[in-house]
Amino acid sequence: MSALAARRRHPLATALVVLLGLLLTGVAYAAVMPSTADASTTTASADDIAQGQKLFIANCATCHGIGAGGRDNAPSLIGVGAASVDFQVGTGRMPLQASGPQALKQPVHFDDQQVEQLAAYVASLGAGPAIPSAADVDPAQGDASKGAMVFRTNCAMCHNIAGAGGALTRGKFAPNLSGVSYKHIYEAMLTGPQSMPVFPNQTIDPEQKQDVIAYLATLRETPNVGGMSLGRLGPVSEGLVAWVLGLTLLIGFAVWLGAKSS
Ligand code: HEC
Ligand code: HEC
Repeated sequence: MSALAARRRHPLATALVVLLGLLLTGVAYAAVMPSTADASTTTASADDIAQGQKLFIANCATCHGIGAGGRDNAPSLIGVGAASVDFQVGTGRMPLQASGPQALKQPVHFDDQQVEQLAAYVASLGAGPAIPSAADVDPAQGDASKGAMVFRTNCAMCHNIAGAGGALTRGKFAPNLSGVSYKHIYEAMLTGPQSMPVFPNQTIDPEQKQDVIAYLATLRETPNVGGMSLGRLGPVSEGLVAWVLGLTLLIGFAVWLGAKSS
């Protein structure tokens, strides 16, 4: 015991304790954090990656840099993962056409295989979220009513409760979700394009993501119950109709009553 006590005053003792603490923190972090890259990023063949690199240099490097490390006008893509590339290129947002408040959905420039190759190349540069599998995004496996709850708390403030979209500040907008493929919905949550927040699996787990997809799928299948949808824009359009129609009726009534009494 006294030997230990004597060594505690050794000049190296503090450094040793700090080192040990750092090591333990690192090990604990690695054990607790789920790894983001999974099988589908690593199954890409070396050939796909090489093809992807060629496509990247020809179509993307002017903005994102030769090694995708980013330049003044475009962010680094190292670690964004295959899911981000699949979303951005698969919805035609990339390669970016015109600068504006937000990259817009465009006709897609590449075929499915080329999108995969680009994604494989970017994924090979650094681990990031992988492209979800067909089973991950299958609405039949999700619970629409749970999904509605997740959607209400996390998405409706921007995308509207019925997914009809809405305006944001500085000329940006949250798009209408009715025509977006299930895979792209999943990837949007996973990667948070532009002003949309990222919803990693720690915040909305894969099962809840599937529930959200089930909810959005149900919206597409449900006919408009209760008459006119008024664009499903909520209280603004409903209020406008109530005012205009209601007031016209009231005024009409007043005029009619006045005409009768005279
Ligand atoms: C004209 C310039 C330009 C070109 C060409 C271009 N990009 Fe981009 N890219 C941008 C900008 C700017 C952003 C950032 C958009 C934002 O977040 O507002 C971006 C964002 C991205 C993102 C999202 C990064 C993230 O943080 O998740 C990906 C992925 C991407 N680009 C991939 C590509 C790929 C792949 C190509 C080639 C097929 C490409 N880009 C071509 C300018 C460009
Ligand atoms: C802060 C506002 C905001 C929130 C909250 C938000 N989004 Fe978004 N979302 C956006 C914006 C802005 C875009 C357009 C980004 C772009 O064009 O790159 C977008 C894009 C999308 C897209 C792609 C649409 C398309 O046309 O390709 C999907 C799908 C999507 N969001 C789903 C969701 C889901 C599901 C949630 C909730 C889990 C959510 N968003 C939460 C702002 C938001």
